[in-house]
Amino acid sequence: MAVVLFTASLFVPSILCAQAGLSLPNTIPNFASCVNEPLFYSCENTTAFTNTCCSPTPGGLVLQTQFWDTYTGLEKQGQLLPKNSWTIHGLWPDFCDGSFTQYCDLSRQYDPSPSPNTTTGKPGGTPVPPYTGPGVDTFVLEFGRIDLLDFSDEQILDQPRFSQQRFLGTRVFKHATCTSTFDIACYANYRKHEDVVNFFDATIRAYKMFPTYELLATAGIIPSNKTTYTLSQLQNAVKTQTGAVPFFGCGGIGAGGSAGRNILNEVWHFNHVLGSEQYGHFKPIDSTTPSTCSPTNISYFERTTTSEREVRVFP
Ligand SMILES: *[C@@H]1O[C@H](CO)[C@@H](O)[C@H](O)[C@H]1NC(C)=O
Ligand SMILES: *[C@@H]1O[C@H](CO)[C@@H](O)[C@H](O)[C@H]1NC(C)=O
Ligand SMILES: *[C@@H]1O[C@H](CO)[C@@H](O)[C@H](O)[C@H]1NC(C)=O
Ligand SMILES: *[C@@H]1O[C@H](CO)[C@@H](O)[C@H](O)[C@H]1NC(C)=O
Repeated sequence: MAVVLFTASLFVPSILCAQAGLSLPNTIPNFASCVNEPLFYSCENTTAFTNTCCSPTPGGLVLQTQFWDTYTGLEKQGQLLPKNSWTIHGLWPDFCDGSFTQYCDLSRQYDPSPSPNTTTGKPGGTPVPPYTGPGVDTFVLEFGRIDLLDFSDEQILDQPRFSQQRFLGTRVFKHATCTSTFDIACYANYRKHEDVVNFFDATIRAYKMFPTYELLATAGIIPSNKTTYTLSQLQNAVKTQTGAVPFFGCGGIGAGGSAGRNILNEVWHFNHVLGSEQYGHFKPIDSTTPSTCSPTNISYFERTTTSEREVRVFP
């Protein structure tokens, strides 16, 4: 943590070091006209939202996604996993039926190696050109938001996973361009990259609503290299707290071939949203996608001890 803060401070514009009277720019959209709109949860009414700034639409099935990895492969470069915490994958705006798009606004495409490389993910789709400009971390710093960079370092905002670039959120933003409440038109006096900062704040807020490590631990489900768990144990543990069954993803091929994937590595928490994705109310709903995990014999592995660090300490 101390090291993280130190490296971040190298990037601090000197003006920010004068703390007294410091005031960072807001990145709050203008939702004033939403008071005249009908209020209901996304994906729950056949009436379409006419003002798409007011609720994520058409991508109203909002997924808060997380990873569980046991090592990063970049430990020597200081990239360690946060102890007792799953890491952030992203905040995805799926269509109500669970299908999705990505890279919806190529003028806000900041990924140097787009994946997939067409908007549809298929050879015939519109090509997504690689981005060659300054890193997304520089946008965040234009707004003085060192807190966001530190959080991203700590919780390893994934994608591309475990890259050596300083700010790991580059690819995460591709989903914001498909989320209507982050459209440039939703900001009064839009300041360039305001939407990027606003999206990272929203991503972190949503992530904190679903503390998967604790949700599982409340039912005694903790990482273990000795015990295995059943899928229904995992699902019930989360459901008793959020009211909904999330998607659990597994890798590895255990006994039973591809039906025997049993190494837990991913969770997606599904939601309908009342109001905006930034500040509105998330209502957890059951996953629209079946789990890829085998029903039994699921390993939720302990991490390699040298691959994680305590992030809940005072610097
Ligand atoms: C759907 O929207 C209409 C129009 O605003 C409203 O009258 C109705 O009560 C809504 N239904 C639900 C289930 O929210
Ligand atoms: C996308 O990637 C595939 C596989 O690497 C490649 O064959 C194809 O030419 C690429 N398409 C574009 C538009 O870059
Ligand atoms: C459980 O999974 C492990 C691999 O992780 C496999 O070796 C073992 O055979 C499986 N046990 C059963 C009962 O399927
Ligand atoms: C637990 O097992 C995983 C998967 O084999 C391994 O990567 C990890 O280092 C192990 N952790 C401990 C503490 O032994």
